[in-house]
Amino acid sequence: MTKSQITLAILFTLLTFIDVSTSSSNVFNVVSFGAKPDGVTDSTAAFLKAWQAACVSAYSATVMVPTGTFLVKGITFTGPCKSKLKFQVAGTVVAPADYWAFGNSGYWILFNRVSKMSLVGGTFDARASGFWACRKSGQNCPPGVRSITFNAAKDVVISGVKSMNSQMSHMTLKGCTNVAVRNIKLVAPGNSPNTDGFGVQSSTGITLTGSTVQTGDDCVSIGPGTRNFLISKLNCGPGHGVSIGSLAKTLNEDGVENVTVSNSVFTGTTNGVRIKSWARASTGFVNKVFFQNLIMKNVQNPIIIDQNYCPTHQGCPTEHSGVKISQVTYRNIQGTSATQQAMNLACSKTNPCTGITLQDIKLTYNKGTPATSYCFNAAGTNLGVIQPTSCLNK
Ligand SMILES: *[C@@H]1O[C@H](CO)[C@@H](O)[C@H](O)[C@H]1NC(C)=O
Repeated sequence: MTKSQITLAILFTLLTFIDVSTSSSNVFNVVSFGAKPDGVTDSTAAFLKAWQAACVSAYSATVMVPTGTFLVKGITFTGPCKSKLKFQVAGTVVAPADYWAFGNSGYWILFNRVSKMSLVGGTFDARASGFWACRKSGQNCPPGVRSITFNAAKDVVISGVKSMNSQMSHMTLKGCTNVAVRNIKLVAPGNSPNTDGFGVQSSTGITLTGSTVQTGDDCVSIGPGTRNFLISKLNCGPGHGVSIGSLAKTLNEDGVENVTVSNSVFTGTTNGVRIKSWARASTGFVNKVFFQNLIMKNVQNPIIIDQNYCPTHQGCPTEHSGVKISQVTYRNIQGTSATQQAMNLACSKTNPCTGITLQDIKLTYNKGTPATSYCFNAAGTNLGVIQPTSCLNK
């Protein structure tokens, strides 16, 4: 070796050594901070201490939750942290079985203003069966909590996470930018009340890929202010399908733009792909939506726009929706409808849907009669073969 080669070799050895030493010393194991993997000892304070130690690290750090079951109460992990942070879970995190333990906070596990962070692996079980029973029996119950929430997060990866038995939503993103969610599983019984799967609002640049949602409410719910959201390879059902809305909850509302749902399967759901708004005034809109390469298996409403939502006709003085829907494409959607009306495009009385494209749709009804379609104030273009016959205004 030449002198410079030797220098380089020494340098590489040193670098490797430094890298190994920093990465091992930068693992913050919750057990080292007092957490107990017994499922009964309250490990909330230990989780917070591990987070706080990792969060001030000058090098990229890992919060490690090893195998075992950890009881954690309502908890907020606050960022941004000094360096990249990985929150790695090998075990199971359970919520207190007593649903009164959360008060009115609305959250079980909240990540607030984190950036450059990843949440990897683990099972989060909110154990909400007592809470659902309380709600179903009409007793006095607390408002309920979401299981995992990211508020105002930026540059986040969520991967391989399983959430079970949530009280309300399993996972919610609000005010987030650039979040990639991969290979997650959200599970609650089909008859559990208001257990939405994945919810997004006021966020941009979100992807949800390769995931399974089996729950009692929307598999994915898309709220006002969602932009550039891509869903692909979703397995949805049981549940209420993918829903843009309900929109027009408030008069001054941000719109929904550039949402794609592709290469996904819906099994036994109440809806496939839905856009839903209250029948009342709003500044909201829905623009540039692509529903493509979808398989419907025994879905009650495979394709549905419902702009007349107003249960018990309360709070909708004009009974028409101010939400403007435009540029919505339905392409290559096939399978079976559990009701005869496989396609229902019921747009606002005062704001017609425009630029709807239907292309290569094949939805059948398996009860001996052909499937039907219904349109109200829906205009656009038909391409390829469309079954049931399209009812769009040209
Ligand atoms: C639309 O969203 C996709 C992600 O689904 C993104 O890649 C694309 O850049 C967005 N388009 C525009 C015009 O922002």
